[in-house]
Amino acid sequence: MRAINIDDLRAAAHRRLPRIIFEFIDGGAQDEVSLRANREDFQRWRFRPRVLTDVSARDQSITLFGQSYPTPLIISPTGLAGIVARRGELAGARAAAKFGIPYCLSCMSTCTVEEIAGETPQPKWFQLYVLRDRGLTRAFIDRARAANCTALVLTVDTKVQGPRERDMRNGFTVPPKFTLGTMVDFARHWRWLLDVGLGPKVTFRNFDGTAAQSGNAVSITQFIAGQYDLSISWKDVDWFKSVWGGPLALKGVLTPEDAKIALDHGVDAVIVSNHGGRQLDGAMSAIEALPDVVDAVQGRAEVILDGGVRRGADVVKALSLGARACMIGRAWLYGLASDGEAGVDRALQILINEIEVTMRLLGRTTVAELGHDCLARQRH
Ligand SMILES: Cc1cc2nc3c(=O)[nH]c(=O)nc-3n(C[C@H](O)[C@H](O)[C@H](O)COP(=O)(O)O)c2cc1C
Repeated sequence: MRAINIDDLRAAAHRRLPRIIFEFIDGGAQDEVSLRANREDFQRWRFRPRVLTDVSARDQSITLFGQSYPTPLIISPTGLAGIVARRGELAGARAAAKFGIPYCLSCMSTCTVEEIAGETPQPKWFQLYVLRDRGLTRAFIDRARAANCTALVLTVDTKVQGPRERDMRNGFTVPPKFTLGTMVDFARHWRWLLDVGLGPKVTFRNFDGTAAQSGNAVSITQFIAGQYDLSISWKDVDWFKSVWGGPLALKGVLTPEDAKIALDHGVDAVIVSNHGGRQLDGAMSAIEALPDVVDAVQGRAEVILDGGVRRGADVVKALSLGARACMIGRAWLYGLASDGEAGVDRALQILINEIEVTMRLLGRTTVAELGHDCLARQRH
């Protein structure tokens, strides 16, 4: 059955993936309050459509870091996409290239930044965590530059791994362990088993050749505890800015206070995000945090929303509240799980079509026409 919306792709992902893998992408931290809030809080805003405006033209293009893009979507960095489908990051990057949108590669990917750069034409973004080993961090920045990445995304909400209880319960490790329980689950999902389970070993390939790569199966929590720098602070942002030298985005900002400090440190974009509800449970949702951050930034940097986007209407709401673009995490992963690269294409096409129809029904033809007057806040 052809997927009509992102929820259909999620249902397909559920069928296609072993439970332990599906829960790794679908789940959030602890009670998943923030995960749910990312979706639910979009419903706090309703549209104020204008009628009898000529909507025969259509244009959802945006400009970001001085470059024009045909649609306001960016693929979020998601580590281990290759556990969903073999060379999953490559499928995502290829799909993004077809649609002319940025693909942000996570440093925790299963394909290296060089592989992605070598096999897809358009420039990519690279996402980095702050590692204890500053030499390694610097090497990552140099590799991203050499691979023609045009923006560096520094994720700042992950000093420690968010407690994802589904993964704990499932004993999720990288690579996945073959136990009696998982073997039955894997065997029932033979397509995944042939593609990923029995394919090349899934690891954090960017870390190949470094001390971080032990070769053993580790939980993500163990990996992060060994690698990430708990002491990182604002002065480190200056270091990143100077070493990188190009557009720098901070991912995981939820407050206007931090957005203002980010501006003082010369950050070029603020990505309003609670990490898809995977880090601090109970943190504000991305769409709830967005208006105050936009207010604080006052157009001095790009503001990007990340979290909970499953509908084109969500994107239109975020843009109406002042976001320049939206990142999509699970939406592309569900597509990837459902049908590889074709599934990512489908996810992007669905969202682009939905953005178009929403804008037309709203009586707007360009992103520039989207503003607070497009929305009414629900009072309850
Ligand atoms: C499976 C998975 C892996 C992720 N890995 C990373 C990562 O390596 N780096 C990062 O900054 N964010 C990571 N994220 C968070 C996403 O970049 C993004 O913030 C989140 O998925 C947005 O919410 P959404 O899934 O509702 O779109 C990951 C998310 C998922 C679902």
